[in-house]
Amino acid sequence: MEILNTFNLLVLTGVFLIYKWVNNKLNYWKSRGLQVSDISPLENLLNIIFARNSFADRGLELYTDFKSKGIEHGGFYILLKPFYMPINLDLVKSILQVDFQHFVDRGVYMDEKNDPLSAHLFSLTGKKWKNLRYKLTPTFTSGKMKMMFETVVDCTKGLHKLMDKTNGKEVDIKDVLGRFTTDIIGSCAFGIECNSLEDPKSIFRQKGKEFFEADLIRNAKFFMAFSFPQFMKTFNIAFIPRDISSFFMNLVKDTVEYREKNNVKRKDFMQLLIQLKNEGKLVDDEKMEAEKINEDENRITMNEITAQAFVFFQAGFETSSTTMTFCLYELARNKEIQKKLRTEIIQTLDRHGGKITYENVHEMTYLDQVINETLRKYPPLPNLNRICTKEYKIPGTDVILEKGMQVMIPVVGIHRDPEYYPDPDKFDPDRFTEENKKSRHHFSFIPFGEGPRICIALRFGVLQSKVGLIALLSKYEFSVNKKTVEPIQFKASSIVTAAEGEIWLDFKKIPEGN
Ligand code: HEM
Ligand SMILES: *[C@@H]1O[C@H](CO)[C@@H](O)[C@H](O)[C@H]1NC(C)=O
Repeated sequence: MEILNTFNLLVLTGVFLIYKWVNNKLNYWKSRGLQVSDISPLENLLNIIFARNSFADRGLELYTDFKSKGIEHGGFYILLKPFYMPINLDLVKSILQVDFQHFVDRGVYMDEKNDPLSAHLFSLTGKKWKNLRYKLTPTFTSGKMKMMFETVVDCTKGLHKLMDKTNGKEVDIKDVLGRFTTDIIGSCAFGIECNSLEDPKSIFRQKGKEFFEADLIRNAKFFMAFSFPQFMKTFNIAFIPRDISSFFMNLVKDTVEYREKNNVKRKDFMQLLIQLKNEGKLVDDEKMEAEKINEDENRITMNEITAQAFVFFQAGFETSSTTMTFCLYELARNKEIQKKLRTEIIQTLDRHGGKITYENVHEMTYLDQVINETLRKYPPLPNLNRICTKEYKIPGTDVILEKGMQVMIPVVGIHRDPEYYPDPDKFDPDRFTEENKKSRHHFSFIPFGEGPRICIALRFGVLQSKVGLIALLSKYEFSVNKKTVEPIQFKASSIVTAAEGEIWLDFKKIPEGN
């Protein structure tokens, strides 16, 4: 009897201590004077693990919760881990830009030794990130975009072929555009013709889909990689499945060797990366010449090439195809806007003999507005993340962010805030006229992030999206097919903003000469 009592007492004490400990952890923000979201930590966790809602929905939910309380910033927990979310746009600006030195890293998973493909620009930290960003920046100048332009336009041939083959029928536009951007990235980043538009079973497309396709395990890994990267590292869990990483490693190795052996040069990212590997600089880098950058230090290794090509693939194909997909969907619903845009496209092309050129893409100002309105309503990365790398006092408050604190920037929340965008669900490109833009805070539109860690390939992402839209809208008219489930829901299991299910559009070829 006595033993049992002691045992019971021990258990009770244990339970009590655990309770105190958990309570203490979940008191983190309150004791620091920050309001906490009403969404419970357990709910947050279950939503993520069981893909009950999407990353976009979660960001929106938190943002709306804080905004409705009229607060400038707030805290929340996943499991027992505290996160910080700024709501006020000046605070967003401080974190992304003004006080960037305190928020250099994203704090996502990376393991250079075990998972060499994960050591890419998106996940690298501190000095390593800074050096690589510096080396890669010349890869994305407007000069380089011009050089690659032809390669991008070449991929529209496959797009037209595929559409013409299905003429008179409806089309699963998400799938078609996913194949289009796969071809572009395959061609520009890896220098291979993957022809996934012709052959949807092409291995390159399969591997891309596989990487993004989410099951329970993959979901859990995504979640861990973003929220608890150290756990993955400690237990040696590779984020990138081994077969996918070996596929890409071999692909890049073969390409580089082939080009070096046969002295093949192509106008693509791979060529620029090879040049960085061998020479440590890009030929026309006047800036580097002027600053007498040490070329040897600047060389990149084979693994680094592969990791960068991989992140171009990962960050490049899904973001742009999602943008085009949502854009065409909105145009199919808003016929007047579609008509106005088509008129601009056809008139501009006609002025240049019907050809898409680098220059005439930039003359299309309404297209720019339409794309930005799409990126507003459907930002491909719905939330940005940063980690506090140096203790930071939130300006104008007593709240201190400790080193290691995770910060989530609610992009989609901001983009759908009626304070900045009245009637936020309405698709209205006129929000992006010069005049209307001026009336808004600069940080009310951040689809590419901001500050030193802004999307390095912003220009390329916009360019390939524009080229795809020009190619389609100049030749076909779109409307929504009954099979599309409306209103569109965000796909729960995906980090990148995507539609749940297919988006089916009806299309009609526009007679030539109209
Ligand atoms: C419409 C298309 C695209 C969108 C909306 C987009 C959006 C973004 C966003 C939001 C970030 C994070 C920025 C931040 O944290 O402040 C990012 C980073 C990045 N993106 Fe993009 N992106 C697009 C296309 C591309 C393409 C085509 C590539 C490559 C060819 C690319 C490569 C990258 C890389 C490497 C980073 C990490 C940059 C760094 O940490 O220094 N993106 N992108
Ligand atoms: C659209 O967004 C891009 C990238 O943020 C920007 O450079 C461009 O000026 C914007 N255009 C319009 C019309 O808002």
